[in-house]
Amino acid sequence: MRSHPALLLLLPLLTGCDDTDFSNGHGGELSGAEGWEGVSEVFAIECVACHGVGGTAGLDLETDPCAAIVDIDAVAYGAKLVAPGDHQASVLWHKMADTATYGGVMPVSGAMDPAVVDNLAAWIDDGAPCE
Ligand code: HEC
Repeated sequence: MRSHPALLLLLPLLTGCDDTDFSNGHGGELSGAEGWEGVSEVFAIECVACHGVGGTAGLDLETDPCAAIVDIDAVAYGAKLVAPGDHQASVLWHKMADTATYGGVMPVSGAMDPAVVDNLAAWIDDGAPCE
């Protein structure tokens, strides 16, 4: 049996070794910025290895990530990647929140810190502004 990676990632946070350090637990450090700044930072650190120019599943999160996702239909799923104002209707949120509604979790290495996923939801619900 395999232990769930997300639980391992959360351990340092739960034990409270440093509550000011905002780490995604995958090796890259995130600033913890809110809104699009925080979302795009996650893409740059966690996603472009696979979703760069000409990326996996036709998803380029490098060239113009906001234009690539906002109001754009998913290639593999019958829904928008990001439906502005509604994170529950957004494939991107479901995949990062690991709801198993649209295939596996993104990034593939395991769900990120809940704060990252919550910021994504808040940004989408805020209308997904590209700034
Ligand atoms: C190790 C490679 C890899 C990494 C890293 C990765 N992905 Fe993916 N991604 C894939 C593969 C393979 C698929 C196609 C299978 C699927 O839909 O789950 C995919 C599909 C997707 C889709 C569905 C695209 C569509 O239109 O159907 C989204 C959205 C997505 N990834 C977002 C992300 C985000 C956001 C990150 C970073 C947090 C990320 N991925 C990191 C490999 C990766």
